Amino acid sequence: MFKLNINGDDKVVDVEPDTPLLWVLRDTLGMTGTKFGCGIAACGACTVHIDGQATRSCVMPVAALEGKRVTTIEALAGKELHPVQQAWIAHQVPQCGYCQSGMIMAVEAMLRQNPLPSDTDIDATMTNICRCGTYPRVRQAIHALIAGEGTKS
Ligand code: FES
Ligand code: FES
Repeated sequence: MFKLNINGDDKVVDVEPDTPLLWVLRDTLGMTGTKFGCGIAACGACTVHIDGQATRSCVMPVAALEGKRVTTIEALAGKELHPVQQAWIAHQVPQCGYCQSGMIMAVEAMLRQNPLPSDTDIDATMTNICRCGTYPRVRQAIHALIAGEGTKS
């Protein structure tokens, strides 16, 4: 049994210690906003925040998470969509959308830790894979957020 804090709520889950957080979220807790892509920390589809840090949940064993705060895409919006989500809509970033919850969680963490990233910083941080090739629009939306124009297309 493990006690986890997910989006501010304490949850007790009965799983093996090496169960990846991704499967606890999706299969045990029914929170399917976080996606499975590769399972080897390569694609970023499963990105969540752990104590505010963007983390690939497919390789994060649940046993390592007691006492830590997990935030998923389900909790990113408040009364309104998060500015990153608004920018994603304004700049029509998603295509199929499959990779985008992980992409958005990675961007949110990057901008919180570095509000004025250079293109080099963006390239180094945004290693999420998008099979639809939304990279130019991701870059465009990030630049709009940096400029404080995230919701304007
Ligand atoms: S599913 Fe976790 S990085 Fe690809
Ligand atoms: S929008 Fe389709 S994989 Fe990224």
